[in-house]
Amino acid sequence: MADLIVGIQWGDEGKGKVVDSLAGQYDYVVRYQGGHNAGHTIVVGSRKVALHLLPSGILYPHCKNIIGNGVVIDPWALAEEMQSFENLQGRLFVSDKAHLILPYHILLDQAKEKNKQRAIGTTGKGIGPCYGDKILRNGIRVMDLKNLEVMKTKIAHILQELGYVEKLYGIELPSVDSIMQKIESVRPSIMPFIADSTQILWKAQEKGEKILCEGAQGSMLDVDHGTYPFVTSSTTIAAGACSGSGLSPKSLKNIIGVAKAYCTRVGNGVFPTEEEGEVGEWLRQKGGEFGTTTGRARRCGWFDSVAVKYACGLNGCDSLSIMKLDVLDGLERVKVCVAYEYEGKRIDYIPTDYNNVKPIYQEFEGWEKTCGVRSFDSLPSKAQDYIKALEEITKVKISMISTSPQRDDIIMR
Ligand code: IMP
Repeated sequence: MADLIVGIQWGDEGKGKVVDSLAGQYDYVVRYQGGHNAGHTIVVGSRKVALHLLPSGILYPHCKNIIGNGVVIDPWALAEEMQSFENLQGRLFVSDKAHLILPYHILLDQAKEKNKQRAIGTTGKGIGPCYGDKILRNGIRVMDLKNLEVMKTKIAHILQELGYVEKLYGIELPSVDSIMQKIESVRPSIMPFIADSTQILWKAQEKGEKILCEGAQGSMLDVDHGTYPFVTSSTTIAAGACSGSGLSPKSLKNIIGVAKAYCTRVGNGVFPTEEEGEVGEWLRQKGGEFGTTTGRARRCGWFDSVAVKYACGLNGCDSLSIMKLDVLDGLERVKVCVAYEYEGKRIDYIPTDYNNVKPIYQEFEGWEKTCGVRSFDSLPSKAQDYIKALEEITKVKISMISTSPQRDDIIMR
């Protein structure tokens, strides 16, 4: 069986820390969607590790790590990330079916954003155009690295088809030769890790080995169920773990949703509980809410239980991990959105016309300090009340609470 960690807000929920705290118990950690638009930060002592493409199990020597077929891989970004780790052979497997982000995807991503009336605020890493090519059946896959002649012919054809964008966006596409030159230089770093990762996972299952799937981004950024078009281009909800790895839906067992004790979003799009004033700034500064991948300031606001309940429904969450509770320390009052006002009525679901809802809040008394607390009973009573209320409103058990960026500052319930 495989367990799953999935973000249930707009990404950056702190999934990296949850995976890190659990990875020690697993034989395999699997990334199944997204690419290096993701940024999972893990703090070990004074060392801060930011992972983008490598699964978080990479920090545990016994753990095998899979970059599944559903991931889009910038081979240069992967090669660079791999440099920080030794002895990856036998510990890292890159699906031969995963798609490659190539230089024209990045150019296109950035050009499309510039040309849009209202930009999505993408990470500019080429994610959307790469997934677009996959769906158009125009993609270049990791397995193509095995035959550069064939790859070159495919890329030449793609560039020819793409010719129109040069005029449309006023950009110059790189030549096939320059792309191939770059690919040849990165190829030796990737080749030894290419594998049929689905077969590896099936064999691991046969042997009864434990598998943890690690989601990237968050459910509200899901291409189908998120706040379209202000979403990423992959299936970020639990269903994506199957299509993005080859594991069957029947093999998913424990699904853990991860949310912050408040809420953040990077990029544009609806965010009903956003606080633009003092509270937003407090959360941003205290929570260090600046992107791991792009450095962009994150938009901040209160916990939105309507959105969380929706995401828990999409994912079938068995439990929730609530992260960064300590960031709320010292606030006089803490708010939770419990419903929306929409067309003059109180609703407790997300309407398709999501832009026009107004949050309805329940207020809680604040507390002094939860930072570094490691048992539920040692939390200030008001913080306990807050957690219990979130549990009651969302109807999902909160099994883990994080009280600082440090690896061990976690409450298990
Ligand atoms: P893309 O994934 O680069 O195409 O960006 C699409 C949207 O998803 C933008 O709003 C990004 O800010 C957001 N996004 C992508 N990756 C992450 C992430 O890891 N955390 C939070 N937001 C993300």
